[in-house]
Amino acid sequence: MRRLDGKVALVTGAALERGQGACEARLFAAEGATVVLTDVQGEAGRATAAAIGEQATYVDLDVTDAAAWDAAMADVVARHGRLDCLVNNAGVWHTGGLLETSPEDYRRVVEINQTGVFLGMRAAARVMCEQGSGSIVNISSAAGLRGDPRIHAYVASKWAVRGMTKAAALELAPFGVRVNSVHPGLIRTPMSETEFAEGRPDPGASIPLRRVGQPEEVAELVLFLASDASGYVTGSEVAIDGAVTV
Ligand SMILES: NC(=O)c1ccc[n+]([C@@H]2O[C@H](COP(=O)([O-])OP(=O)(O)OC[C@H]3O[C@@H](n4cnc5c(N)ncnc54)[C@H](O)[C@@H]3O)[C@@H](O)[C@H]2O)c1
Repeated sequence: MRRLDGKVALVTGAALERGQGACEARLFAAEGATVVLTDVQGEAGRATAAAIGEQATYVDLDVTDAAAWDAAMADVVARHGRLDCLVNNAGVWHTGGLLETSPEDYRRVVEINQTGVFLGMRAAARVMCEQGSGSIVNISSAAGLRGDPRIHAYVASKWAVRGMTKAAALELAPFGVRVNSVHPGLIRTPMSETEFAEGRPDPGASIPLRRVGQPEEVAELVLFLASDASGYVTGSEVAIDGAVTV
């Protein structure tokens, strides 16, 4: 028996082969799930889904678009009959302190990282409450557990995800639907690639575990939270950061 046998999962921001979303989708499929990968990068997303195999499909979904969420959810239910796991993984990085961040940039980051999670939870919860089960995993960040003066909008959006997770967990618990947040530290993906540019100091040196994380390691944690193995875990925030926030 694999850990997600018979489950149907949707992962946002899953197009890029080395991104966290694709790693989660790959692991979910290997554990028996039917997986719907979504993103705004259609070409990459279709290639990533094809490489996973017949259990995976790709659907265009801009997480800021409420109508697109409704359409994607209707499509999942029509094709697979249910939705067991939603991973709200899509996100954007933005560098800039309070004094350097324009209102436009602030709103764009919040729209994708925060409103996108709201819309995703809302769309999935309608299906999951009706079926009486489900697990939603929201990808926040170490930046959702502490302050960071260099990334004001990103911190705001990721703290919001942490709070929304707890509010939704309380609201959806009576329906058998669980909601948890995951808080990665520095993980090597396309988003963080500039940290590894030649000539830059080793980004792992300042981390207590003395290395950065890999997307496969985050995927293992997300798998646990998505699966029935975590059946009594809801409203929790789980750091996966080599102890940078301790
Ligand atoms: N890489 C890190 O160090 C790190 C650390 C903490 C948290 N995170 C979070 O992990 C999640 C995954 O990031 P990653 O490192 O894999 O980054 P990534 O850039 O590799 O992947 C993010 C994906 O989100 C997609 N995306 C962007 N805007 C979108 C939108 N409007 N609708 C749908 N998809 C959209 C992108 O196309 C991309 O495929 C993000 O929420 C990120 O904030 C990353």
